[in-house]
Amino acid sequence: MSGPNDNYDPKQVSALSAESLDAMVADAVAAFAAADTVAALKDARLAHAGDRSPIALANREIGSLPPAARKEVGQRMGQARARIAAALQARQDEVAAAELARDLVAERVDVTLPVELTPEGAQHPITALIDRMCDVFVAMGWEVAEGPELEAEWLNFDALNFTPDHPSRGETDTLFVAPLENHLLMRTHTSPVQARTMLTRDVPIYVVCPGKVYRADEFDATHLPVFHQIEGLCVDKGISMAHLKGTLDHFAKAMFGEEVSTRFRPHYFPFTEPSAEVDLECFVCHGESVGNPDRPCRTCKSEGWIEWGGCGVVNPRVLISAGIDPEVYSGFAFGMGIDRTLMFRNNAADLRDMVEGDVRFARSLKGVAR
Ligand code: PHE
Repeated sequence: MSGPNDNYDPKQVSALSAESLDAMVADAVAAFAAADTVAALKDARLAHAGDRSPIALANREIGSLPPAARKEVGQRMGQARARIAAALQARQDEVAAAELARDLVAERVDVTLPVELTPEGAQHPITALIDRMCDVFVAMGWEVAEGPELEAEWLNFDALNFTPDHPSRGETDTLFVAPLENHLLMRTHTSPVQARTMLTRDVPIYVVCPGKVYRADEFDATHLPVFHQIEGLCVDKGISMAHLKGTLDHFAKAMFGEEVSTRFRPHYFPFTEPSAEVDLECFVCHGESVGNPDRPCRTCKSEGWIEWGGCGVVNPRVLISAGIDPEVYSGFAFGMGIDRTLMFRNNAADLRDMVEGDVRFARSLKGVAR
């Protein structure tokens, strides 16, 4: 410090000395450096550059200096305040950048992480397959009929020409519903809808009826006590076995591909005469796996044919019990297991998957069963 130094309080002089201003600057710079958040730096700014900071208080003293000393002290003060301001600005930039970098790390979104989406369901494959089967028939002008699952014993058996002592009427096969004298049961097949349809609709009749059926059966990979069938019934003038064969051929092609054909094996059902079991030519190997151990086929177990369902020409006794004249009308009927169809058509290995309600099973066949 130079120039005359009398006439004012030495204490005030010391606050404005080069050393003390340097110390204030050094304190401020150290405090700014120590502040590593925007909030801490704000406190440091108020303490070292604010209105009540040492440097601001010292600045007020300039006015009390003798005029001759003011210029030099004023310059020194200006430089000191400029250094503090510059240090503050530099630190503010650093802290803001560091805080932004910290936030970016903390709030980083990793778009590659697996996310828990709202679980999405899927139409049950059985429902999808039923829709598809019905579409094939609706496209030919057939109607879709429904019947109750809790059925009258008469419609499930008697109207279909089952004799009173037919073995499938036994309690080991059929689930009767108490009290027994009501003669109600859980339908064992969709065929009672044949009887219901003939009693309620006028001929000609072309209907398919998909639905649940019940049998006193095991619950394992190949048996279900509740499963699904699709029944078909046609009653019209001049209907023969040939119409049945043509219809099932078309059904098979629509479901399994154009090259697939069907074959009939003689069988017995009380409600059709003649009756047959219908087999499907294997739509995977087309018979080429038969007797060919080098090319085994899992779908038909190298048999070349897959058992698909039952069918036949409607027994005249059934027409009569529904009030239809068998001299004028004739018809055919068929019935297929839908769960079984899904099994070999879509490689569903275990029938229990059909009823256990695990959405992963439905998702795995989403769109495929259509
Ligand atoms: N109802 C028979 C069954 O469940 C299938 C069938 C339907 C047979 C129609 C012939 C005609 O096995």
